[in-house]
Amino acid sequence: MNLFRTKPVTAVAQVEAGEVTLKRVLDARHLVMLGIGAVIGAGIFVLTGNAAANHAGPAIVLSFVMAGIACGFAGLCYAEFAAMLPVSGSAYSYSYATLGELVAWFIGWNLVLEYTFAAATVAVGWSGYFTGLLETIGHAFGTSLSLPTALTSAPLNVVEGRLVPTGALINLPAVAIVLAVATLCYRGISQSATVNSIVVAIKVGVILIFMAFTLQYVNPDNWIPFIPEPEGPGRFGFDGVVRGAGVVFFAYIGFDAVSTAAQEAKNPQRDMPIGILGSLAICTLIYIAMSAVMTGIMPYNLLGTPRPVATALENYPNLLWLKSLVEIGAIAGLTSVILVMMLGQPRIFYAMSRDGLIPKMFGRIHPEFRTPHVGTVVVGATAVVLAGLLPIGVLGELVSMGTLLAFATVCIGVLVLRKTRPDLPRAFRVPAAPVVCILGAAACLYLFFPVFRANWHWMSAWIVIGFLIYFGYSRSHSVLNRSA
Ligand code: ALA
Repeated sequence: MNLFRTKPVTAVAQVEAGEVTLKRVLDARHLVMLGIGAVIGAGIFVLTGNAAANHAGPAIVLSFVMAGIACGFAGLCYAEFAAMLPVSGSAYSYSYATLGELVAWFIGWNLVLEYTFAAATVAVGWSGYFTGLLETIGHAFGTSLSLPTALTSAPLNVVEGRLVPTGALINLPAVAIVLAVATLCYRGISQSATVNSIVVAIKVGVILIFMAFTLQYVNPDNWIPFIPEPEGPGRFGFDGVVRGAGVVFFAYIGFDAVSTAAQEAKNPQRDMPIGILGSLAICTLIYIAMSAVMTGIMPYNLLGTPRPVATALENYPNLLWLKSLVEIGAIAGLTSVILVMMLGQPRIFYAMSRDGLIPKMFGRIHPEFRTPHVGTVVVGATAVVLAGLLPIGVLGELVSMGTLLAFATVCIGVLVLRKTRPDLPRAFRVPAAPVVCILGAAACLYLFFPVFRANWHWMSAWIVIGFLIYFGYSRSHSVLNRSA
């Protein structure tokens, strides 16, 4: 059996007559909102501070530009594929049509890291902001609304590569938000898209208000030196800027999730590129402006906290009211990331299941809600376990690694398909494809290796489990066996 057999492009989007399918209801505006929903979250509200304080200094702005360029290349490639193959499987389906079944499986398996693990990671961040907001509200009313630590943090932590108990019981708020979001995803794509649009409006509104009120306090002296003197590998200097780009890459993850909604888009040929590239462009501008303002109002070395946006306000007593607003914006931001990630994963499973690589139940569509409901329940349950039990650090790094591999593969896939099927109609074409695709893949792999070096054992274990499932189940159940 050929491990590199490809699925014919014409077969990728086929559905059988009378089959219950996903519902085509999304327009370009929904898709841009889904992209912004998935992108702006823990990256800016949690990670920026550490990246500025420990790696890049004020040049965190450059780190955002660098990561934005890498994602821009990948985004162009996603746009070409998503307009050409408007199916829910995203990078998995694109790989199946170009690089073969084994690579497709590998990418599909890594997308679990991107989507399910990202939902769990961000739910843990959500829990932190939520408990913070409860405390603020309690404080305002002269009472205590704090939840016990045993119920708001992970019972397991990673110390020197091993899982050790922390004494806590469960991260209850993280579990609760995952359950609430999974229920929404189960009920329908239109409802999910509407809630997402509202939540995105809140988070972007908060960010704009933050910038409008802080701009006057920006002190250009805080940007000097723009790139602080190097203090060792990855600490300041140019090397630090690159390391910072690796850290804030997480902030860009999610624009590709737009492509998992391709089968629910009304006019995917036109709207997929708008959704993917539009959301990416808006988020890049927001990130650059936001990181410039944050390092402009507070010296970068003081920003290294888990809530850097609120920390940036601390020197300005007259702006303290903004802190609660920032907390609300962060909670909204993190909610929409969880939502779009949890919409994406069952749709990728749906595509994999229809190809026979995972059990049929993942391909079932709810007759009334027209959602992949069984997949949604399984993904929700998995994210509940991960978010309830594990700490944020390891989860986040696995998310970045899985995503970078998927991005690199999509970049290469575009070139392969241009060679093997130059005849296919392409509603959107990557400009200067050989240059953009090669640079895109190289940039993603360049950002992948330092993170991989630190976590190779987790990532290798993940890959080995993936291959065991492929050789134990998927290869023999593949639909391509029937047509062979
Ligand atoms: N980009 C998403 C975030 O920053 C995953 O939360």
